[in-house]
Amino acid sequence: MERKNQHYSTHFPDVKLKVYTISESLRRHLYIFKTLTGVFSFRKIDLGTKILIEHMFIPNEPSGLLDLGCGYGPIGIVLAYESPNSVVYLIDINKNAIWCAKENLKINLPDNKKRVKVLSGNYFEPLENKDLKFNGIYMNPPLREGRKAFIKLLCEIPDYLKPNGFFQFVMKKKMGALYMFKFLKDSYPDKKIDILCKRSGYWVFNCF
Ligand SMILES: C[S@@+](CC[C@H](N)C(=O)[O-])C[C@H]1O[C@@H](n2cnc3c(N)ncnc32)[C@H](O)[C@@H]1O
Repeated sequence: MERKNQHYSTHFPDVKLKVYTISESLRRHLYIFKTLTGVFSFRKIDLGTKILIEHMFIPNEPSGLLDLGCGYGPIGIVLAYESPNSVVYLIDINKNAIWCAKENLKINLPDNKKRVKVLSGNYFEPLENKDLKFNGIYMNPPLREGRKAFIKLLCEIPDYLKPNGFFQFVMKKKMGALYMFKFLKDSYPDKKIDILCKRSGYWVFNCF
């Protein structure tokens, strides 16, 4: 029977817990991810996430990077692996996702716990240093909650970016990627708004 509160964006999805293991080659490195029922795309890495990971720009130099809405952690863990001198934050509101992200950090990057921080809470709220700014913020946004909530979040993102910082996210064309592109161009005429790739119905954005 379907339960009311099982959506992946809730604090504690009300589902019978079962652990899954996913193995996935990303940017030519093999990762093992533990996932749990009630966490976004727990059976198999989401295609949008995979396309974002394969096309996202990752700085080589030491940087501050953020995987916003990390789920079980695929984006943030790849960032931390590929940019070994960066400090990487992973944040999610779903406690089961946070448990998975912490487990996946231990499995995939056992010696990097100090520079990779997994935080539980509402977007930027769990950050202790309220003045913290990032070189890069990455996201596969929770669009099932509607485009309005994402647009509200989008407008806050520049406050958390360093000068020349960027925000990269993935969006399905049929979920309104063209609308979002026009919205960003109109709202930020002086900023760089690029599409890094269009593949299998997904667009990867690079902005600010
Ligand atoms: C589309 S999923 C992407 C998950 C993961 N990044 C991936 O690609 O597999 C969006 C994630 O955003 C999280 N989320 C939704 N609302 C949030 C909020 N207010 N604060 C933090 N995370 C949130 C959800 O719990 C979910 O894990």
